[in-house]
Amino acid sequence: MVAKHGRTKRAVTSFALMLMVVVAAPSAKAIDDAGRDDRRIAEMLAAMLRAGRTVISQSQDVINDPTARHKGLDGDAVLARSVEVYRQATGMDPGALPAGSREGRLLQYEMAAIKEVVDANQGTINAAGTGFKGFIPAVFARLVSEAFSRRAQGEADMKVTAPLSLVRNRKVRPDAWEAEVIKDRFQAPDWPHGKSYEMIMDDQNGPLFRIAVPEYYTASCLSCHGGPKGDLDITGYPKEGARVGDLGSVISIRLRRS
Ligand code: HEC
Repeated sequence: MVAKHGRTKRAVTSFALMLMVVVAAPSAKAIDDAGRDDRRIAEMLAAMLRAGRTVISQSQDVINDPTARHKGLDGDAVLARSVEVYRQATGMDPGALPAGSREGRLLQYEMAAIKEVVDANQGTINAAGTGFKGFIPAVFARLVSEAFSRRAQGEADMKVTAPLSLVRNRKVRPDAWEAEVIKDRFQAPDWPHGKSYEMIMDDQNGPLFRIAVPEYYTASCLSCHGGPKGDLDITGYPKEGARVGDLGSVISIRLRRS
């Protein structure tokens, strides 16, 4: 009886496994200890991206100053300030993480990405004559996400996306999972403000941790994303007609366990 039951169970299990292989559809799993570890690392990565964005936001006047000069806003300077903002926001020192650890390595990739992106844009930042230069937090965040994902080589990747109707840059359009999380969770009337959503799924390469972190428009965003809807903003994009508090951004991070 017991044996028979065991066989049935095994048969069911292998049938399920077969289905997974055949259909290759990602299946959801509950968040376990490893998932909590993933979450902690993903939150560190999101906090560092936000820190860098804050520094670029605070530096807009310097960046857009049309006087040609070396502004001292190079990769090392922006990284040092970002680390300081990160420390204040999280109470953690990224330098204290063991370099060989997974979180130490991933955070180093991101910090190197921040430096790389700012150094690569020195021409723009120091250029003479132009007023608005377009080196804004959103562009910075996209470039850092791309550079980070390249450095992390499949171990992790990061993207700042938004509800599809708001997306300006096609490169960061939400994928199916992100679109579903935005629609069914973040835009649901009872979703707690600021609460992220995460999931572990199994795909053909093993377990994949995904997290989406919602962000909302503040007054400072509305000069570009506010109203009147359709009018062009300073960057040449039509404004979205958004309001303070609307869901405007989603940081999406994927972590692969090695
Ligand atoms: C100076 C105008 C300006 C301001 C202010 C601004 N944005 Fe944007 N935003 C843009 C532009 C331009 C892009 C497209 C960037 C690119 O090319 O990747 C963008 C892109 C984004 C994206 C990436 C998705 C997409 O649409 O491509 C998000 C998310 C976003 N903005 C949110 C915000 C939030 C939240 C704020 C306020 C904290 C803000 N923005 C302030 C101009 C602005």
